[in-house]
Amino acid sequence: MTQHFIVIGNPIAHSKSPAIHEQFARQVGADISYQRQYSPADDASFIAVVEAFFCGGGVGANVTVPFKQTAYDLCTARGGLSDHAKTAGAVNTLLINKALVAKGASIAEAIYGDNTDGQGLVNHIASLGWPLADARVALIGAGGAARGVILPLIEAGIGTLTIANRTVSKATDLVKELSAASPVIAAKQIESCVTSELSGAFDIIINATSIGLSGDTLPLDDNLNCQYAYDMMYGRALPFLQHFAAREAQVSEGYGMLIGQAALSFERWTSHTIDVAKATESLSQKS
Ligand code: ATR
Repeated sequence: MTQHFIVIGNPIAHSKSPAIHEQFARQVGADISYQRQYSPADDASFIAVVEAFFCGGGVGANVTVPFKQTAYDLCTARGGLSDHAKTAGAVNTLLINKALVAKGASIAEAIYGDNTDGQGLVNHIASLGWPLADARVALIGAGGAARGVILPLIEAGIGTLTIANRTVSKATDLVKELSAASPVIAAKQIESCVTSELSGAFDIIINATSIGLSGDTLPLDDNLNCQYAYDMMYGRALPFLQHFAAREAQVSEGYGMLIGQAALSFERWTSHTIDVAKATESLSQKS
């Protein structure tokens, strides 16, 4: 029987998720349908779309801009959240909490939220062969994208974490908030600073700001160096990566993170394991 999946967003026409999930399904021989689902941008419409999908037999949904926080609030009130969704403050993967249904909850009451974005990043970095264990990591940005990767990076065993942001108070507030929410994060000493003052040698620097969308460049100190630079954006020329490539760092854009988070959602929904490197190769041959 065909299993049904959607990705909900606004706008949604550009989403690469259907092609990615169809590639996964081919790889493991699963019978799936994965569609783009537009929703009007208000919360009530999004909730109506989610309920209609799951009550109609849908198995899993991805959530993208601008609904990740709305999905978080919905799952908080309904079927619950994974630890990664809790610390991210955002949900990118919806499914039904079957344990709750077994206890008598309705499907609508059992809508559950996970967040695979941060683990997708960690898995991609690991697949590049960049060592995370004991690494000195700098994360630039303190918005939603940065927030979602902090717990998975710490779980991956990094050595030190410095969070740099244009508005430094947002970085310090984020560290306080996440430390209160997660003992794993609280146990880690996390430094914060303003981006222009981030300096010294790091193993990995990750750009989690949205600056790549604007064409602006980050004010980076001349004494800031790294072996590996990662930009969570993809699909365009990224000055952040050009800056570190010119200093002989290995660099990567975030397309592999997109595939990594999708693979984790697919695995969560179907219990199949995806060979991400193989899927990435097949997908890049098509684009
Ligand atoms: P996202 O969900 O993509 O993280 P966001 O929550 O709006 O989006 O966060 C955007 C991040 O990019 C923030 O860290 C922001 O810095 P501020 O907190 O100081 O606003 C950063 N950012 C966006 N444009 C930037 C720019 N031109 N220069 C430096 N940082 C920028």
